[in-house]
Amino acid sequence: MNILVLGSGGREHALAWKIAQSPLTDNLYIAPGNAGTAQLGENVPVKPEDFPAVESFILSHDIQMLVVGPEGPLVKGIYDYFRSQYRFSNLFVIGPSREGAMLEGSKAFAKDFMQDNDIPTARYQSFTAKELNIAKDFLHDLNPPYVLKADGLAAGKGVLILNDYEEAVNTLKEMFHGKFGEAGKTVVIEEFLSGIECSVFVLTDGESYILLPEAKDYKRVGEGDTGLNTGGMGAVSPVPFADDTFMEKVEERIIEPTISGLQDRNIIYRGFIYFGLMNVHGDPFVVEYNVRMGDPEAEVVIPRLYSDLVPLFQAVATKNLSQQNMQIIPDTVATVMLVSGGYPEIYEKGKKITFPDKIPETSVIFHAGTKKENGDVVTSGGRVLAVSSVGKDHREALSRSYELAEKINFEKKYFRKDIGFDLT
Ligand code: AMP
Ligand code: GLY
Repeated sequence: MNILVLGSGGREHALAWKIAQSPLTDNLYIAPGNAGTAQLGENVPVKPEDFPAVESFILSHDIQMLVVGPEGPLVKGIYDYFRSQYRFSNLFVIGPSREGAMLEGSKAFAKDFMQDNDIPTARYQSFTAKELNIAKDFLHDLNPPYVLKADGLAAGKGVLILNDYEEAVNTLKEMFHGKFGEAGKTVVIEEFLSGIECSVFVLTDGESYILLPEAKDYKRVGEGDTGLNTGGMGAVSPVPFADDTFMEKVEERIIEPTISGLQDRNIIYRGFIYFGLMNVHGDPFVVEYNVRMGDPEAEVVIPRLYSDLVPLFQAVATKNLSQQNMQIIPDTVATVMLVSGGYPEIYEKGKKITFPDKIPETSVIFHAGTKKENGDVVTSGGRVLAVSSVGKDHREALSRSYELAEKINFEKKYFRKDIGFDLT
């Protein structure tokens, strides 16, 4: 089978790494990919959100499976674009329909969906600019800190947590005045949940689902979970507090009602669902839905999948997932993200990366922001490389990643030294 993966980050490198191992894969293409994916297949200069360009590539290269990595093309409706054309009726598209992708594309939609399906989540209301006064009253009724969320996609920056009422009101006004462009014209205000976060993933065909390993992501740039939010500085799987009792609650209270809620609304969904959860004294609450794998969570979850992913994707696309199962590797996988100094604010690109001659078999380096330039691998983004390692426990997996992270060099390399600090 010829397979096209859309995207260019660590998540897509991890997906491509797994797909390349499948005996079902003939030719693998990644659009646009990075220097890491180029070692597994062919990178193609097509933008994931340029659907006509994706379409002509699929036709000219006889692609049978399209795996969509990031949320952008999903929210824009790539699933519907191909499904609406008869000549693509045999193309397997891995991802939700445009309506399904609204679970991530609109926070107000996601919150209403949760409320309608009795899925535990923080108390909330959605407001637009003309409702400023009632929004102020709602804020007044909540206890600080206050959580304000831009409704639409805002590249992970649309959530603001404020301690002071006046500050929250001012921020709300700024959002209504375009702080996040169109994405912030509707704002969800919600109650603050205090607890510890983890990410849970399923693959679903819209009826059945397969639970994937859970992970914990470290979002803040600084050690001890301080400083600005990033796309993620590291991740670990499994998560010790996500024990059987907790996961049973997650399946019963969150995953099952989500899948049946999609069915009740006749929403087509053939892909990953990412449940961003808060564990509040042992009870799971949904903080967010994403309609794709997490990044850097994919870089720890995918290496823990023993089963071949390609037949599972086929089963997702043909609605045969109930016939399938997934074998998971019981070991721990941890990843440490090497980033460009200055990230998530201003940073430089184009720095030459040097790697040690020998990479231990227990580690794999997933490229996130890299490209090939005059024969060298150079940095091309804030998050540069995810160094993933397997071990018998967190300590072993992390020490292997840290040992390798020290041996990879580029100017102004930075990484957190305390990934997993709260789990061991
Ligand atoms: P989101 O994009 O909705 O996942 O929000 C980004 C981050 O903000 C989450 O990963 C949490 O760390 C934090 N956050 C969002 N909503 C809440 C909430 N209601 N209570 C506490 N923290 C939250
Ligand atoms: N690591 C967070 C995310 O993928 O949204």
